[in-house]
Formats: sequence, C-alpha cells, structure tokens
Amino acid sequence: MERQKVVLAKADAPSNIAIVKYWGKQAIQEPVNPSISFTLSRARTETKVSYTAVRKELKIDFLFEGKRKKAFIPKLEKLIQALLPRMPFLQSGELFIESSNTFPHSSGIASSASAMAALVKGLYSIHQQLSQDDDSKMDAQKISAMARLGSGSACRSTLPGWVLWGETAEYASSSNLYGCSINELVHPLFLQLQDSILLIRSGAKSVSSSAGHALMKDHPYRQGRIQQANKHTAELLRALKMGDFTAFAGICEAEALSLHGLMMSSSPPYTLMAPESLAAIETIRSFRLQHNIPLTFTLDAGPNIHLIYPNEVKQEVLPFIEDCLKPLCENKTVIYDELSIQ
Ligand code: PMV
Repeated sequence: MERQKVVLAKADAPSNIAIVKYWGKQAIQEPVNPSISFTLSRARTETKVSYTAVRKELKIDFLFEGKRKKAFIPKLEKLIQALLPRMPFLQSGELFIESSNTFPHSSGIASSASAMAALVKGLYSIHQQLSQDDDSKMDAQKISAMARLGSGSACRSTLPGWVLWGETAEYASSSNLYGCSINELVHPLFLQLQDSILLIRSGAKSVSSSAGHALMKDHPYRQGRIQQANKHTAELLRALKMGDFTAFAGICEAEALSLHGLMMSSSPPYTLMAPESLAAIETIRSFRLQHNIPLTFTLDAGPNIHLIYPNEVKQEVLPFIEDCLKPLCENKTVIYDELSIQ
C-alpha cells in the first residue's frame, strides 16, 4: 500500500491590543462597530500543523504547550467547519496541531487572537501545498477574513502594526470581513509605542468575551455604544495621523472604561476589573498630572492594565512602574512589550 505524504506547515502570529474596542457581533462573526488595534512584538503564538490524507473523516489532535487541551477542541471544530468551503482538504485526513505561546499561559494576555491567526496561517499553508490551482498565493485579506471566523479580534493579528477592522466612512476600503493595515496613515510617534502589561490577576475570566459580545445584543446602551465607537474611530484616526498623544490618551481611556462600563450595565451585570486595576488607573493618572509625561492605559476584557507610552519617555516611565505599579501586580509581574510593525 502506498504511504500517504505528510504535509507540514509552521506559522506564527502576534497578540494585539485594541484601542477602539470591538464589542458586540452581528451576522457571521462580523462586528457591530469598527475597531482599531496594534500588534505586539513579543507576545506571539507559534503553531506547527501536520496533515496526512489517510482517513475518511477528519481526525484532529491538538497539543498546547505539549499537553492535550480538550477545552480548545470545540472552538477548533467550529473554525474548521467554517473553513471547509475554502479549504476542502479539511473534510478528511489526520490533522495534528501543536501550538505554544511566547508569553506565560497564565499571564492574562488574550491569546485567542494570536492562536487563531497563527492556526489559520498554518492551515492555509497546508491548503496551498495541496492545492493545484494557481490562485493560492498568501492573500492578506483572505487570511484575515478566515482568522475572523475563529475569533473576531484574530483578523487584526494577521497583519503587522496598526489595523482597522469594521466598516467606517473614514476609511474607504474598510470592511466588516477583514482587517486593513493603516500603518501608512500613522505618525512616527505612534509606530514606536511601548506596552507594559501590568498583570493584576492571572487565571481564567469569570465571563468569557463570547458571553460579553452576546450581552450587547439587548444592551440598553447598544445604540449609544455603536455611535461612540464610530466617533472614537474617526477621532483616533485623526490623532494617529497628527501624532496627537493627548487626543490619543483621551480616546484610549474612554474606550477602556466604556468597555468595562458596558459589562457593569449588562443584564446580568458583571465586573472583570479588580480593586488593584482601579488603584493602578488612579496612580497612572496622578503620575501623569504631576510629571506631564505622555502615558495612557487600556484594558482588555479582564483586570490587567496595558500601560502605553512613546518609546522616547521609557527611561522616565520604567522607574515609575518599578516603584508605584509593580506593588499592585500579582507576584509583582509586569510584561514589557511594544508595538511591532514587522
Ligand atoms: O475576539 P474576541 O471575541 O475575543 O473579542 C475581543 C474583545 C476585546 O478584546 C474586549 C476587544 C477587542 O477589540 O479586541
């Protein structure tokens, strides 16, 4: 009997942090509002995929950091179902996926965006190797759109640096289906941002992002939120272009606090911030007032604080983190990362 060929692929993708937040879905994993994020340099997922066309039904095996991770399988199966029309090889065969993060598993950094983006890139590479058709170039829009099906924010992790996802009148080629690179619109000040992640609490969140998105469907402030996100998108694009850090900081903080305000006013309401998150916010604001240094913060759907500042003030900010913010962090843990346009 002829032995089946094993097809191999390796891919990686960065995590991203949203400044204008995607919060609420419509149709098939499309956002109800535009969002803007930047990718990180050190927080990445690396994925190896191997595929053998040997069986009638698809068999999937998934290892995360060397261990079988059952919790990821339903998400993986959902993604594979969604990718089937574009990657027919996923109908049958044996798929072995090994994935690992360059950041600690319990760091509280959202990993679904980088994980789904890396996985889709790996699967697409297998598809390309198996496919006979000529139209199998790595296509940025296609890959971003496929990553979106795994996790919305993943469509912003397939492109480097600043990415806009979601339709807005402010950017002609914007789409709900994929992210668009906007680095060419961005002032150099915003191409060298530092992101120091204050690990307030590690561990699993009490309410998942999927549940949070679903609660936006009947949220009493839904319309107001959609309007606010559109306004912030326009304002952020302007601030990024002009190199206006004060305007940037205003939008960044309003978005983070609105996201958490929406959680607190959902039905049922919930909180993901911790007392130390608020203490860190107050500490950051009073340091900024006292020293007139450009720095700001944002939060994802969790208690950790992303402290964001231009590279040029790094030497002044690092001792502040050390002395005033580290004591608020779990095990005094801060993860030093930065924007990447690679
Ligand atoms: O991509 P998801 O479904 O994990 O949702 C991400 C939601 C936020 O991280 C809170 C905001 C965003 O735009 O990344």
